[in-house]
Amino acid sequence: MTRQIIPVEPFDYVIFGGTGDLAKRKLLPALYHRDHDGQLPEDAQIIGASRSDKSQKEYRDFARDALENHVPADQLNAESVDRFLKRLDYVPIDVTTAEGWDELAALLDGRSNGRIRAFYLAVGPGLFGPICEQLNKAHLIDDNTRLVIEKPLGRDLESARELNKAVGDYFKEDQVFRIDHYLGKETVQNLLALRFANALFEPLWNASHIDHVQITVAETVGVEGRAAYYDKSGAMRDMVQNHLLQLLCLVAMEPPANGDADSIRDEKLKVLRALRPITASTANDTTVRAQYSAGAGPDGKVDGYLEELQDEDSTTATFVALKAEIDNWRWAGVPFYLRTGKRMAMRMSEIVIQFRPVPHSIFGENAGKPISNKLVLRLQPDESVRQWIMIKDPGPGGMRLRRLPLDMSFAETFEERSPDAYERLLLDVIRGNQTLFMRRDEVEAAWQWIDPIFDAWEETTQTVTSYTAGTWGPSQAIALIERDGRTWNDGDQ
Ligand code: BG6
Repeated sequence: MTRQIIPVEPFDYVIFGGTGDLAKRKLLPALYHRDHDGQLPEDAQIIGASRSDKSQKEYRDFARDALENHVPADQLNAESVDRFLKRLDYVPIDVTTAEGWDELAALLDGRSNGRIRAFYLAVGPGLFGPICEQLNKAHLIDDNTRLVIEKPLGRDLESARELNKAVGDYFKEDQVFRIDHYLGKETVQNLLALRFANALFEPLWNASHIDHVQITVAETVGVEGRAAYYDKSGAMRDMVQNHLLQLLCLVAMEPPANGDADSIRDEKLKVLRALRPITASTANDTTVRAQYSAGAGPDGKVDGYLEELQDEDSTTATFVALKAEIDNWRWAGVPFYLRTGKRMAMRMSEIVIQFRPVPHSIFGENAGKPISNKLVLRLQPDESVRQWIMIKDPGPGGMRLRRLPLDMSFAETFEERSPDAYERLLLDVIRGNQTLFMRRDEVEAAWQWIDPIFDAWEETTQTVTSYTAGTWGPSQAIALIERDGRTWNDGDQ
């Protein structure tokens, strides 16, 4: 089965932070892939902007290098690479000054008649306000202009509000695209299809039939070259406030009336608002935070977080586990266990929907006990959707029960490269489709739930514990779920 490629309208993409890590690793490769697949119109233009003084040729060389390092060799086609590089231009701008904006305006000039223009701010959030202000001064914002921003969208509710305001002073909400790249992942889209394009699951999707939900995002990498950023964020701000809560929302939300961006985002917002606050009196039983110590990394022995950071006083958590509860009719009494960490046993992100046991088994002891059904949506590394069910063990010898996964990912049916989340998201910006982007109120509601957890940690005696690199986290995280008579799904797809 081949994928349908629908070309988008002509556009100008301006990437602030055009020589940065995100541009190199994700944005340029993603745009190259879409171009290679024939989705970019002939005169689509991509402009890198950053402080370094580069010529157009030097930027094209930089981009060629980025593609060679971040696109698998078998997906690099010389003709496509040349065509892609010809789309690239570059303008040196120090965004804190008034210089460079005329050059940018000149590159975009004559192209504003109805053309879509997207500004991707792949820079620190402190620059969002100043860039928007300068764009406005340079008359580069009109109704066809879109702004793309990415986390950290604040470090608490107050700073998130300030950021939203700084951007909102110049852009209307329907022009602002807040990226959470987890929403662009294939399996996350599949979750929506599974829930709302099948009659099978929705009747069971509630507290009467679901025992609990687990959301795990485990990584084997450490903080890599990002220690300065990471130490101020930690797992809670880096992963839970955005990626894990967004996944929780998609699992828990009510069916929206239609697939419009706002219908979906309204439903996600209701989930965030129904999350039960974690307070000083509940934090000890519902949260665990920890830091990795020296142990095993993917390629051998690795240092602990503090040695890597060269600061033995940091209390930043590189692992967090939480038990979240949603106080509404659908989910009353169904815990959502969340956990994420760096330097864990394997790279694995998944959502597990654990169904309740059968009310009564008609089978005798020899058949074995029916094991409760579970649906496992694996986001990475190997995308899959598996429904675990009980069957009769085939063959003679009486009734013996056996647990098997029903593979619903149909990997063989679609023998295609699975696109990176950024490919989908970057072009959704051009299409003007905000479904997979976070609305202002969603971001703020997420902080509204997260902030009190930090307050609770301050108030309680609960400390940051440690776990050995290369494991599934601290024993306290295992206790968090086992206290409730449940276990983490460690790698069972
Ligand atoms: C980013 C975090 O948002 O997501 C990183 O800042 C993390 O710390 C990354 O490593 C994980 O993304 P993925 O797509 O590799 O799971």
